[in-house]
Amino acid sequence: MQLPIEADARSAFEQRFGRAPTGVAISPGRVNLIGDHTDYNDGFVLPMAIDRSVAMAFRPTGSGVIRVVSDGETAEFAVDPLTHGHPAWSEYLRGVAWSLPSASGAAGWDAAIASTIPMGAGLSSSAAIEVATALVLDHLAGASTTRIDVAKAAQRAEREWVGMECGIMDQMAVAMALPGHALFIDCRTLASDHVPIPNDTSFVVLDTTTRRQLVESPYNERRASCERVARHLGVSALRDVTSDMLAVHWPELDARDARRARHVVTENQRVLDAVDALRSNDMARFGALMIESHISLREDFESSGPELDSIVEAALASPGCLGARVTGAGFAGCAIAAVQATALDEFLGAAGSRYQAVTGLTADIYPCQPSAAARIV
Ligand code: GLA
Repeated sequence: MQLPIEADARSAFEQRFGRAPTGVAISPGRVNLIGDHTDYNDGFVLPMAIDRSVAMAFRPTGSGVIRVVSDGETAEFAVDPLTHGHPAWSEYLRGVAWSLPSASGAAGWDAAIASTIPMGAGLSSSAAIEVATALVLDHLAGASTTRIDVAKAAQRAEREWVGMECGIMDQMAVAMALPGHALFIDCRTLASDHVPIPNDTSFVVLDTTTRRQLVESPYNERRASCERVARHLGVSALRDVTSDMLAVHWPELDARDARRARHVVTENQRVLDAVDALRSNDMARFGALMIESHISLREDFESSGPELDSIVEAALASPGCLGARVTGAGFAGCAIAAVQATALDEFLGAAGSRYQAVTGLTADIYPCQPSAAARIV
């Protein structure tokens, strides 16, 4: 079955380039159910891909140039040498063309992008574009890079080319997800496991409609705090720190750094507990862990924000809500709620009005389905 987004990308391609594409890469966004700011500390995360995607229709040209149109705006750049340039979204494509080892085998192509993932909302629109680009490059080069190596190249593009010091969660989720499942990832070993989501639970995206640019956000600064504490404790990453160790060294640490580290240490344990809860279908426990995670992100890691706190409170006060928390980097963007499927309609009605009553803002609130990883169709 062709997704509407695939048809949109195909027709945008034909309109811009005057012929049909030879293929389309479909690449999903993601929500993180629990485990934020743990990935770059070698810890645990539990994201799932969602039914909002980027579609990238493509056709090889052999011209040595990549031309990509998105929303009527065209980016055009040579494959060799690759340079930085405009528009801003093209940096994700340039970055992957630079970081993916097989990319040099793809000698120029045209593409058109269509997307249903809001940009900068914390649903990984950037990872979706990166992984789509990697699949197109790999396909055109006739290579078969593994999904883990695709995720690594996409992350490298974002860190070293774009300058956002992200972990690997988003790229792994987009490259490896299975429909109906969340993806439990050990970000140290990159071992991952698909964990089924019970049918009686719906996950709902709560988009505050506030936005923040991550490269300029305090994200890199949070990461630096974590690295300082790890260095002080003589470990390679906070993954190796226990609550007891942290308590012993607490007085020697900068108070803010210590609280941020405490979030990471406790969050890692919450992910392990949440995976157990999911496997035993204990969604009340799962929801309680989401709530604890939000409090930890708000109080210790300080990566929530007034609108995110308001929308989480609005969700928790709405019918059928099992738990809710900020998802992804935070500071602005989206939260995620677990809701009893039988109460979904009531929940959707109530959460938005409560948020609006407190903030005056109109949220974008919608259920999301655990979806498939990126692929070429
Ligand atoms: C962003 C980054 C991820 C991860 C989350 C926070 O989404 O891209 O690597 O660090 O923030 O969990």
